[in-house]
Amino acid sequence: MAIRSNWRVIMNLNIELDRQAKKPLYLQLSEQITREILSGSLKEGARLPAERKLAGLLGVNRSTVINAYRELEAGGYIVSHVGRGTEVVGRAGEKTDGFSWNEVLSGQGESLINPYSTAMSELLRQRDLVAMDSGIADPELYPFRDLAQIFREVLSAEGKTVLQHNCPQGLTSLRESLAELISLRDCEASPENLIVLNGSQQGLDLIARLLLEPGDAVITEQPTFLGAIDIFRSYGAKLIGIPLDGEGMMVDRLERVLSRVRPKLIYTIPTFQNPSGVTMSIERRRHLIDLACRYRVPVLEDDAYGLLNYGSPTPPPLASMDKSGIVIYLCTLSKILCPGLRLGWMAVPPEFARIVSAAKQLTDLHTNNLLQRAIDLYLRKGLLQQHLEGVKQTYILKRDTMLKTFEEYAPGGVSWNRPEGGFYIWASLPGAMSSVNLLQEAVKKKVSFVAGPVFYPNGEGANMLRLNFTHAPAGAIKHGIKTLCVVIRELQERNSRAGTVSRREFIPIV
Ligand SMILES: Cc1ncc(COP(=O)(O)O)c(C=O)c1O
Repeated sequence: MAIRSNWRVIMNLNIELDRQAKKPLYLQLSEQITREILSGSLKEGARLPAERKLAGLLGVNRSTVINAYRELEAGGYIVSHVGRGTEVVGRAGEKTDGFSWNEVLSGQGESLINPYSTAMSELLRQRDLVAMDSGIADPELYPFRDLAQIFREVLSAEGKTVLQHNCPQGLTSLRESLAELISLRDCEASPENLIVLNGSQQGLDLIARLLLEPGDAVITEQPTFLGAIDIFRSYGAKLIGIPLDGEGMMVDRLERVLSRVRPKLIYTIPTFQNPSGVTMSIERRRHLIDLACRYRVPVLEDDAYGLLNYGSPTPPPLASMDKSGIVIYLCTLSKILCPGLRLGWMAVPPEFARIVSAAKQLTDLHTNNLLQRAIDLYLRKGLLQQHLEGVKQTYILKRDTMLKTFEEYAPGGVSWNRPEGGFYIWASLPGAMSSVNLLQEAVKKKVSFVAGPVFYPNGEGANMLRLNFTHAPAGAIKHGIKTLCVVIRELQERNSRAGTVSRREFIPIV
């Protein structure tokens, strides 16, 4: 066996575990074994070493190997047989003969192989689930008729010109309308500051592309939006998560980190955060901007949910408090209208807008011209505000249905918050109960949610879950939460009968 620093060659596999990395060892291990399987180095039927043996060879705790094997099993890559050990299985639809594209992936491509997310999305792909896992607006509320009418109007008014190219930064009159929309959030922007995007996901990607080199540190809330974690990681960033409490990111902790580390970016969702639903207090917003200026770290403010407030007035965005031009403001139609249109926008200082536009041009030239004209007209007719009034009423009702059902049926030890806006309720399970295990059981009863760990850059959050209250109908939400509470109780009883943490239960990762 060849051993080089922290390298281990086991069964001709190169396993390299980086103990300094933020990514937990078990995820590093499961991802490396996945790559070996997908590249064909580990063939169907190959036996993996027993957990204890591999732990010994790698010099890690046995729980690290157990958790890695569990990931692989959930992803359908391996199977464990009592008495026969752990075997690699072929994955449906994936060739192990022929050409393997995994062999030629760039670092960015490789970063997208994530057995954890794959396993979770496979689990959630089932039909007939009460979908509390989604991050989607209520499809019943999509303004189909208004949009159909608007698209017709634009096509007949503009004729063939609407099929022409437009400038990368986006249609000027749409940028004027978006500046108006932003002013609803007490934020000043002018068309020169704004860039029209194919959804806010594109804004995250452009900023990451323009700012990040492999190894750069990015600060996020912990937990945070999975899409952002994936994008920053794909550019090789190391994520530093700052915990949240009821007032948002714990900015005093951020200060401690900034005194030691020089991050490239602070990414925050200060208002009705995804996944926690939490809103950052005004004091913390001020403190955060102050720190960003003092340590000269740009802030990317993701305001995807900011217009969806259900009660007391929402604190102003960071961008409206920023005097130094250090905050980038990002928003989208996906949550307030519908996600399939793919329209977002970003406000940045004008000199940076030119660079961002150049990056946008490199990616896709510009956002769909017909769409931009249609949304401009939709906004100019005041239809978005009308739409928002309606959706907010429905979402208040659905949120309250979810909260009330929890209050009635939740077993002891389960806790949850009451968001003042947005899409999500954030809940925690009793003791060491794992939300991944709960999800496996809940899906059997046709109920879904998202298990906490995907939202944590460092793999924590084992007993947390995100529940969406906007997508499913209110009746289904009630049924879904009742069912979930039954499943939690069953798991609680099963765990207490077993007396110990069962084989499939959460084992602390050390
Ligand atoms: C915080 C946050 N930012 C960005 C996005 C992506 O939105 P879009 O559909 O505009 O790309 C989402 C979607 O879930 C989100 O929750």
